[in-house]
Order: sequence, then structure tokens, then C-alpha cells
Amino acid sequence: MLNHRVVAVLGVSMVTAFACDVEDVSETADVVVDVALDDAEEFRSGSTPNSLLKSLLVAEVRDLIDENGIEPLEPPAPVSDELFELGEALFYDKILSGNLDVSCSTCHHPRLATTDRLTMNRGVHGVGIGPDRVGAAVGGRTTQPLWNLHKLQKGLAVDHKVPLAADGYVYPLGAPFVPFDWQDEAFDPNMKAAAGQAMMPQVTDQEMLGFPGENDFTTECPQDNPPFELMLCAWGKMMERLGAIPEYVDMFEAAYPGVAFEDMHFAYAGNAIAAYEFRAFFSNDTPWDRFVGRIDPTGGLIPGDDDALSLQQLAGARRFLDPDLGNCTSCHAGNAFTDEDFHKTLQPQFGPGDTVPAGDGPGGLDDFGRMRISGDPDDKYAWRTPPLRNVMLTGPWGRQSHYNDIKDFLRHYRFPVLALLGYDITESVDEVAMHSQFLENRQAIIAEGVDPLLYTVNIGGPFALDNLVQFLHSLSDDNGADFSHLIPLSVPSGLPVDP
Ligand code: HEC
Ligand code: HEC
Repeated sequence: MLNHRVVAVLGVSMVTAFACDVEDVSETADVVVDVALDDAEEFRSGSTPNSLLKSLLVAEVRDLIDENGIEPLEPPAPVSDELFELGEALFYDKILSGNLDVSCSTCHHPRLATTDRLTMNRGVHGVGIGPDRVGAAVGGRTTQPLWNLHKLQKGLAVDHKVPLAADGYVYPLGAPFVPFDWQDEAFDPNMKAAAGQAMMPQVTDQEMLGFPGENDFTTECPQDNPPFELMLCAWGKMMERLGAIPEYVDMFEAAYPGVAFEDMHFAYAGNAIAAYEFRAFFSNDTPWDRFVGRIDPTGGLIPGDDDALSLQQLAGARRFLDPDLGNCTSCHAGNAFTDEDFHKTLQPQFGPGDTVPAGDGPGGLDDFGRMRISGDPDDKYAWRTPPLRNVMLTGPWGRQSHYNDIKDFLRHYRFPVLALLGYDITESVDEVAMHSQFLENRQAIIAEGVDPLLYTVNIGGPFALDNLVQFLHSLSDDNGADFSHLIPLSVPSGLPVDP
């Protein structure tokens, strides 16, 4: 980076006339170059030629990419077409919900970039998709997108409620709910966290299962807490439902050659759904990827293209990657933009609280974050760094959809304590129903402390912020938020697919 700083200083001192001695020139010029590289006005005013700015920025961003150890994003391990097709059917089929009213895609909809674009997720009893969904039971967290799940190998969900432990097994909610022999038999080693996760919404009452007394799962299965017996029973009944549909039996047996359907358990379904997610939601064809270089799953490495990013995106990338500027990569690390670790970033709490298995704090409306799973009080109000792929297509932003405006979300990084104290849900959240559900626990969040890394984050002034947002746009696949080509026309159960 130092080399390019020097080149930058020389470059600019050639094009800007300073009437002072040499030392001063380089110091002033360094400042000017920093401003120029970040300043959208500079791009427009043309006082530094855009071609010069661009070559400086390209060189500097390429150095920062190296320093950050960022490589072209590797594709997920290949899966067979038969496994993919089974997973696809299961992902869109409401047969996996107790009341036949919800599929995975109801909340993770391709038309909404694999989310629902709501504050809180809306599960059973509802009709419609995303902001149009009415009548549904409301959950306590925002639906997370499903891009590049092959890069999330330590665990899933914002508190890693589905962790992949060092012993190689998945422990949903910290317990061995998915029997180890099932995991050994059915889970592909590359997809274990996603396969385990894909078995949980069907046995969660508000998401897909339904409530006591509503269907044969909830009337005939024991409603114990802890719910181990309920899960095993409900998974068994789901396999019975699937086994009554000949097309599914054929699909399962084609996906797992040599295993008869009657010897399969629900982990085979979870593994197939993971295979679908890995292949369908692999995102590596964005302006950013074309700049860094792409690995085409069929054709090998396509080298980086200096023209793939706009000037503003380059300036934003520089701030994002540079430890002396944005330092975003201290948490949003690597080419999936997450360290898969937990941080206290002081976002507020609202909504009904995460009720799986029970809400936190007085009244159960709080959410203690990572501590719910780790049990460690130091993890109270710490949250997983989210991956940022397609992030501009999945707003509102934050784990509770705290901000409907990306700039407000990023401004929070400037003075997190003040931002939390000044947070006004009526301004930041469009869904009026949420406005009365703000939890006044701000002092408690602040008392748990803030991640010291946040003090190193510098989002810069208004132009720099614009550039940062443009950089985030460069992480979007080109087809806007519309991935509807992924939606199958029908599923083997014959139930309607959310269009
Ligand atoms: C009612 C809405 C809803 C349904 C239905 C639903 N999900 Fe989710 N999903 C969510 C929410 C909310 C989260 C975030 C949970 C958290 O962080 O605690 C999530 C998280 C996930 C994650 C973790 C993503 C990450 O970045 O960690 C995966 C994977 C996932 N869901 C897959 C599925 C699959 C597969 C199905 C169907 C079997 C499904 N979901 C059904 C709402 C839903
Ligand atoms: C200390 C670690 C840390 C640093 C540094 C950091 N982030 Fe984050 N980021 C997080 C965490 C944790 C969240 C989730 C917070 C929450 O929702 O409670 C997050 C959320 C986000 C989101 C919202 C994602 C979504 O899906 O809603 C964006 C956008 C974002 N960060 C961008 C940035 C940018 C740009 C920078 C640098 C200016 C940055 N972050 C620096 C940890 C960090």
C-alpha cells in the first residue's frame, strides 16, 4: 500500500500546483489525494482527471485486496442433479409445514433475494409473501438471506443457534437434537450446518409446525420441553407424508442411490435442502467479483477486470478494506464478508423476542444474542457478523431490520452509543405495527460494552458514505432483486407454490 500512496502523492502533485517546499507538497498532496479518492465532488469537478483517480484507486484497492487475503470466491462443492432437484422440491413445498401453509420459500423468497424484506419474519397462518403477507404469526427476528451458505461453516443464525461443533456434529440450540447416527448417514461433510438448519423450521411452532391442537404433528406428538421427542415424532410424520407421494419416493431414491425410502429419516431431507441452497444461492457474478476475479464453476478462473467497478465503488471499496479508514474488514472479513464471529454493535431491540425456545429478560421480549447459545454472560447482546452478499437487495438492515435507510444504518457506526440513545423507531422502521414494540433496554445494552473495533471504524463524511453505499451495491448480482427464474412451477405434493 505504501508504494501506491507514494505514487498517489506524485500523481497528484503533478496535477495540482502547490506553492510550497517539497516536504509540504507531499504532505498536502497526500491529504488532497485522500480527499480526492473519497470525494464524489472531486469526481464531478474534474480537478483531478478521472483516469488518474481511477488508476490510483484500482492499484490501491488491488493492494488492499491482497493485504486482506481476499481471493476469488470459490464455488460450493458440486452436488448431483438428483439431490439438487429433491432439495428444490422440498424448499418450495408447503407439505413440510404442519398446516400446509408455509414453505422455506415463503420467508426466503427468490423474488425478494431469499428474504421477506420484513422486520420480523411472518410464519404460520399467513397468506402472501414479504410485505404483502397478512394474518401470520410473527417471529422475533428478521429472516436472514441464504447467499453463499458454503462460506458459513461455523454455524448458522445470528447467534449460531445451529452451530457446527469441533467434533463435526451439528448441535441445534446447543443440544444433539439431530441424532449423530442420522448425521453420519445423511449429511454431506461440506454441508452439515445447512443440513441441520434445514430440519429446524419444520419443528418450530411459529415458523412451519403450527401450534398445539392445530394439526396431526401438534396433536399426536408429545409437546415436551425440551422438545426432543416432539422433533423426532414430527420428523417421522413428515417422512410418512412424503412417502405417500410416489414422486417424492422416486426422487429420494434417485438422490440417495442404494438407500431404500423406508430406510430414510428426515436428515436425508435436510441434506437435500442444503444441496439446493448451496447451488441455487451461490452468488459470484457481481461487479465486485468481476473486479477481483471469478471462478466459473464450469470454465475456471476469469481474471479480474479493472473496469468492473465505478469510481465511486472503487473509493468505497478502498474505505471498506483499509484498516486506517473504514476498517470494515476487521469484522466483515474475506470474500464472504464475515469473520463468523460475534460483536457488540449496539443495535436496539424490538418485536416479540426470539421465542425459540423462550424469550429473554422480564416479559420475554428481550433477546440476549449469542449468550442464549453459549451461556457466557460476556456474549450478552453480541451478534454474528452478517455476510454482505446482495446486501443492497435485502434491506431493511440489521438483524431486526433496524433501519429502512442504509445510510442511517452506516451512520450508526460513527458513534454507536449516541446512535443507540438517539434511535427513534418511528423514523427508522416503516412497519407501523412495530412502533409500539420498542424495548427500552438501551442502558442494559450499553452496560454490556461495545466492541472496541468499532472505535477504529471511520465512515467519513457524506461523500465517503455515498461511496461506501455504492460499494455495497457492487456486491449485488446484476438482475436486481429478481431471482424468480429459480421458482419451480409446481411441487410433487400439488400444493400451490408461492409465486
Ligand atoms: C417463518 C419464516 C421462515 C421460514 C418458514 C424459514 N425460515 Fe429460515 N430463517 C428465518 C429467520 C427469521 C432466520 C434468522 C434466524 C436467527 O438468526 O435466529 C432464518 C435463518 C435461516 C438460515 C440461516 C442463515 C444465516 O445466515 O445464518 C438458513 C440457512 C435458513 N433460514 C434456511 C431455511 C430453510 C431451509 C427453511 C425451510 C426448511 C427455512 N429457513 C424456513 C425465517 C424463516
Ligand atoms: C466490530 C465488528 C464490525 C465492524 C468493524 C463493522 N461491522 Fe457491519 N456488522 C457487524 C455486526 C455484528 C452486524 C449485525 C448487527 C446487528 O444487526 O445487530 C453488522 C451489520 C452490518 C450491515 C447490515 C447487514 C444486513 O444484512 O442487514 C451492514 C450493511 C454493515 N454491517 C456494513 C458495515 C460497514 C460498511 C462497515 C465499515 C464502515 C462495518 N459494517 C463495520 C459487525 C461489524
